[in-house]
Amino acid sequence: MEDNKKIKLTALSSKGGCGCKIGPAALREVLQSLSPSVEDPNLLVGLDTNDDAGVYRLTDELALVQTLDFFTPIVDDPYSFGQVAAANAISDIYAMGGKPITALNIVAFPIADLDKQILAEILEGASSKLKEAGVALVGGHSIDDKEPKFGLSVTGLIHPEKIRTNSGAKVGDVLILTKPIGVGILTTSIKKRWLEEAEIERVTKVMTTLNKQAAEIMDDYQIHACTDVTGFGLLGHGLEMAKGSQVGIKIQQSRVPVLPRVKELAEQGAVPGGTKNNFNYVHQDIDFADSLDQIDQWILCDAVTSGGLLAAVKKEDANQLLKRLQAQEIEATIIGEVTDGPVGKIVIEE
Ligand code: CO
Ligand code: CO
Ligand code: CO
Repeated sequence: MEDNKKIKLTALSSKGGCGCKIGPAALREVLQSLSPSVEDPNLLVGLDTNDDAGVYRLTDELALVQTLDFFTPIVDDPYSFGQVAAANAISDIYAMGGKPITALNIVAFPIADLDKQILAEILEGASSKLKEAGVALVGGHSIDDKEPKFGLSVTGLIHPEKIRTNSGAKVGDVLILTKPIGVGILTTSIKKRWLEEAEIERVTKVMTTLNKQAAEIMDDYQIHACTDVTGFGLLGHGLEMAKGSQVGIKIQQSRVPVLPRVKELAEQGAVPGGTKNNFNYVHQDIDFADSLDQIDQWILCDAVTSGGLLAAVKKEDANQLLKRLQAQEIEATIIGEVTDGPVGKIVIEE
């Protein structure tokens, strides 16, 4: 058993986070090709859409929202890793407009190689976020695995008529993003030992911040579509919204908040494989302004863990919503708008 103090959790990790209930783009075709297990009219949001969580109607007033997510360590501090994993897993419930109520831990841990105290800290970190979210931990499952992995399955409640999918965006809506991007490039830089402590803290804080407050403030406004920005990156999730809503999307690159030093680190080689995969997967549907170089394009596709909400809000509501979000120290910004076309595509202006 190695000395705890010397353990760098990210050094044990082969890859970064993922996104939503389906997983990486390359695998989701397989997952989505499954035929439904049963035809059930109460299954309101299921496998056939790219939404963040599944929704199942219990009564006319009540539906279950269910999601799960887990990944390998993206930060070295075990307590922070637990917090990030929990904030990320709960986020899909907030993205759908639900209230998370219960959670189960999903644990893979190298029992023979790592001190159990590390696992205890991961679980404590997760619990701290569950507490903040008002979510009851009801159990979990663990296996012995060479590579540590952690995540949660989270269940929430929602009114069946108040589900926020990513398919309701309307022409003229304003797009608000509630956290800065660049997380994939920064966590890759953590793994390369390229970041100062303060930089690690900054990106960790972004990832451990719950989307709870942002989602609750949004309840007071006309949100036509919402998703959280995670593994497919801003443009991947934005494209799901454009395609699902049968609209076009226009984003001003200069308005997209990017964490400090992301471009510099990307130029030095910190662009993760998942980010490049995202780019390869979406680029034929994106019209980038000529002034954007390859690095700029990758940054907009950067695979995020525990990112912010991307919401299409009624134009008249946008400024007031933005003010209220910013008053709570949420790093929200208006990044673009919903257009009448080209449908299912994104235009990136300077
Ligand atoms: Co995932
Ligand atoms: Co999601
Ligand atoms: Co999404």
